[in-house]
Amino acid sequence: MNKILVELGNRTYPIYIGSNLLSNPELYTQHIKSKQVVVISNETIAPLYLETVIKQLSSFQVESVILPDGEQYKTLEYVTRIFDELLANKFSRNSTLIALGGGVIGDMGGFAAACYQRGINFIQIPTTLLAQVDSSVGGKTGVNHPLGKNMIGAFYQPQCVIADADVLDTLDDRQLAAGLAEVIKYGLIRDLDFFVWLENNISALLARDKNALSYAIEKSCLNKAEIVSEDETETGVRATLNLGHTFGHAIETGSGYGVYLHGEAVAIGTCQAADLSRRKGWLTTEDVERIIKLFEQCNLPTTPPKDLDSERFIDLMSVDKKNIDGQIRVILLKQIGVATLPIGVDKASLRETLDTYGR
Ligand code: NAD
Ligand code: GLY
Repeated sequence: MNKILVELGNRTYPIYIGSNLLSNPELYTQHIKSKQVVVISNETIAPLYLETVIKQLSSFQVESVILPDGEQYKTLEYVTRIFDELLANKFSRNSTLIALGGGVIGDMGGFAAACYQRGINFIQIPTTLLAQVDSSVGGKTGVNHPLGKNMIGAFYQPQCVIADADVLDTLDDRQLAAGLAEVIKYGLIRDLDFFVWLENNISALLARDKNALSYAIEKSCLNKAEIVSEDETETGVRATLNLGHTFGHAIETGSGYGVYLHGEAVAIGTCQAADLSRRKGWLTTEDVERIIKLFEQCNLPTTPPKDLDSERFIDLMSVDKKNIDGQIRVILLKQIGVATLPIGVDKASLRETLDTYGR
């Protein structure tokens, strides 16, 4: 097992990465501070892994809340169901919430933990590649609003993250690829060597080679832990993790939550950001082609949906947490391995990319 620390002073916490971690009770129990534990999961993941998790918690009072599966349920309404269950079972302020699932369950569970009685103990057990390399680390929690993705939320750090690579065996290929989009992001924004490693090892990753997957998870978590330690609440460098996300969130909201997977929308958005970076004179045409090729090798989409026109794109991109005084701000690439901080883009150059790239 490997252990990476997210250094946040007295809120520093470990990310455990390895095999067979779900059935290691010590990993959980050392981070639980009282008798009451609630496990949040969904209808797909619970039949696969809930029993194993609950077995490790035999000395606790354990309840579970099983939510429907899908991005469209990442709403305040379904977080309220978690509160209902906690209150009905008289859970107190020192109880622990475990989020067992992908990014949707992690974000919702974390938000419920942040809000219930103003904050209870929280453990992340991410079960998708995307959640293991990104969403479970760093304390961003929240839900979607019909008018904007992840618009309601809180920063709330877990006590630990338990990333068991074995659970990826049951993940389908489309979800694995979506996770790879966020893995590629780390190479693009700050780690050229990792990007080159990904280019050379993409077949092994797609074939689910355990060593390659573990390396990619560790490298991603190391990058994310460093960024979060430096800028927990996104006043600076953390925003670079949003490469492709302003475009991507517009695609997710505009197409209806759940049509594109988050990682798929990020892959498209990253290609659009690369195109805009080329127009700025930073990336070369060869750089952009290299980026598109890597996403294509993962069978990820690289062009925007035809029915989302530029006007609608701009409208949707205007609802983004990075924007200031109504100006759209995006992360671009100075070169592969070097991202900009959020920069305001004038609508004319943005339109050029939206009107022409992939159209
Ligand atoms: P997801 O949570 O919807 O999971 C994808 C699918 O895989 C679901 O159908 C789920 O039930 C299923 N699944 C999960 N684990 C499985 C397993 N081991 N075996 C079989 N099936 C399994 O999607 P995701 O890609 O994990 O997460 C996307 C969400 O994460 C989005 O809402 C996005 O906004 C959010 N996100 C948050 C952050 C953050 O920093 N908090 C970062 C990136 C993404
Ligand atoms: N996934 C973006 C962040 O954690 O900041």
